[in-house]
Amino acid sequence: MREPLTIRAAGVTDDMPGWARRSWGDTVMAVQGRVYDLARRPALVAVAPGSLVGVLTYAVEGEALEIISCDADPHGHGVGRRLVRAAVDVARERSLRRVRCTTTNGNLPALGFWQAVGFTLSSLRPGAVAAARQLKPAIPTQGHRGLPIRDEIDLELVLPAPVDAGGADRLRVLEDPAGRTV
Ligand SMILES: CC(C)(COP(=O)(O)OP(=O)(O)OC[C@H]1O[C@@H](n2cnc3c(N)ncnc32)[C@H](O)[C@@H]1OP(=O)(O)O)[C@@H](O)C(=O)NCCC(=O)NCCS
Repeated sequence: MREPLTIRAAGVTDDMPGWARRSWGDTVMAVQGRVYDLARRPALVAVAPGSLVGVLTYAVEGEALEIISCDADPHGHGVGRRLVRAAVDVARERSLRRVRCTTTNGNLPALGFWQAVGFTLSSLRPGAVAAARQLKPAIPTQGHRGLPIRDEIDLELVLPAPVDAGGADRLRVLEDPAGRTV
C-alpha cells in the first residue's frame, strides 16, 4: 500500500456502523461474556486518501486497554501494526499497564498477527464461544479452514513502567521491521 496513511481517533464523520457491519456483519461484538457496540466504542482509524482502511475499537478496563476489534482492509500492508502501535500510545498516555485482546481458536491468522506485534498468550477459556453465541447468535461456527470456533484466547502486551529503561526494547517489536511507508 503506497498511499500515505493517517492513524487518528475516530470522529463523527467516520462511518463506524458501516465499517463494523462490513467487517463483522454487525455492530455488536460478544466477547468475555460481555456485549460491546462497536459503533459506540472509542476507536482509532487508519485512513488512506479518501477511505478508511482499518479500525481498532477499545475499552479501558481498570489498568488495561482492551482491544475489542481490530481489522484492516486490505490485509498485510502494515495497517494492523500501525493501529496497534497507536493503541499502545493511548495506553501509555493514560498510564495503563497492559494492552489486551481476545480472539478464538478458529482465528489462526489473528493469533499469528497478535504474536507478531508483541502480544503473548495470557489465558484460555475452553468452550467460551458457546456463551458468546447466547449473546450474539450470528457468531460463525467455523473459522480458518473450517476449524470449529469454540474457545476464547486472551493475549496481552505488558507495558513497561515509565522508569523501566529496558521497556523500549520490549516495545520495539511494534515497529515495522521493514521500515515500510504505509
Ligand atoms: C488481523 C489483522 C487486523 C492484521 O492486520 P494487517 O494489516 O493485515 O497486519 P500487518 O500487515 O500490520 O501485519 C503485522 C505483522 O503481523 C504479521 N502477521 C500478520 N498475519 C500473520 C499470521 N497469520 N501469522 C504470523 N504473522 C502474521 C505480519 O507478517 C506482520 O509482521 P512483519 O511486519 O514482521 O512482516 C487483519 O489481517 C484483519 O483485518 N483480519 C480480519 C479481522 C481479524 O481477525 N481481526 C483480529 C481479531 S480482533
